[in-house]
Amino acid sequence: MNKEIFSPDAMAGKHILITGGGTGLGRSMAIRCTELGASVTVCGRRHEPLQETATFIQNNGGKAQGISCNIREAESVTEMVERAVSTFGDIHGLVNNAAGNFLAPTHEISPNAFDSVVKTNLYGAFYVTQAIGKKWIESEKPGAVVSITTSYATTGSAFVVPSAVSKAGIEAMTKSLAVEWGTYNIRLNCIQPGPFPTEGAWKRLVPNEQVADQMRARVALGRFGEHDELTSLVVFLLSDASSYMTGTILTLDGGEVLNAGGQFNELTRMPRPFLLEMFKSLRK
Ligand code: COA
Repeated sequence: MNKEIFSPDAMAGKHILITGGGTGLGRSMAIRCTELGASVTVCGRRHEPLQETATFIQNNGGKAQGISCNIREAESVTEMVERAVSTFGDIHGLVNNAAGNFLAPTHEISPNAFDSVVKTNLYGAFYVTQAIGKKWIESEKPGAVVSITTSYATTGSAFVVPSAVSKAGIEAMTKSLAVEWGTYNIRLNCIQPGPFPTEGAWKRLVPNEQVADQMRARVALGRFGEHDELTSLVVFLLSDASSYMTGTILTLDGGEVLNAGGQFNELTRMPRPFLLEMFKSLRK
């Protein structure tokens, strides 16, 4: 199936900054944006994966650089943004993708554990958004921010409280700045992805195949997401094709959240012919 709906130059001339872009979904976003003509800066704490991603993109004819940065520190963010601009020029789009998470009983996590997730997710997204937003406002240039959150920013979820509260904070920031910065033509939107397998997330959140099967069964479409299904939406939200869209929280989860909620959704787990017979018997 050919899912490519963008022209090969859909992102040409754009410089996109992706936090946590050295691995996982961030890496896939970086590759997709450069395939569509953008130059990309990926940042993260560890130098090696950033370098690996940048080299991979360069070897495939794209423009990319990796810059080490701890987004929990405002100064490190300011320096990283300056370096990014000095190589590839003005930034046109930002993806707040970097995130930390772990499964743990909330009554046992330490203050430092809470800080490490909230500072990465919420403070990090704020620092980078503010540093780049300031540049857009001063230069009177438009910009687009896409933040990767999660469906449990809305519903809440057991065992991931630091992640849930920080992602909910990012969504509140997005809706607030969509209005505050609308006058500058700066757009901000969020994507709440469902389960998209990555090595980093899976080793922290999916302890075994049984849990993986349970997660798959929660999705109305019955499968995990593919990276390109997420990167397509990221590209759309960064591109001028979505120029009237701001302050939205989009869910991209194969129907996972709705499936968990509907009172009679469990019936879909039964073999369909049996179910249809059962419905017939109820009419008698
Ligand atoms: N359960 C409870 N506490 C945990 C934990 C877990 N599974 N993993 C780490 N912590 C605690 C540590 O014990 C430490 O607290 P302490 O100093 O009071 O003991 C604190 O969290 C910081 O952990 P540490 O590993 O020292 O520092 P870090 O800042 O490098 O790690 C994390 C931050 C925990 C968020 C780490 O998982 C991370 O950086 N992840 C980034 C990538 C990621 O999570 N990707 C998946 C996204 S879904």
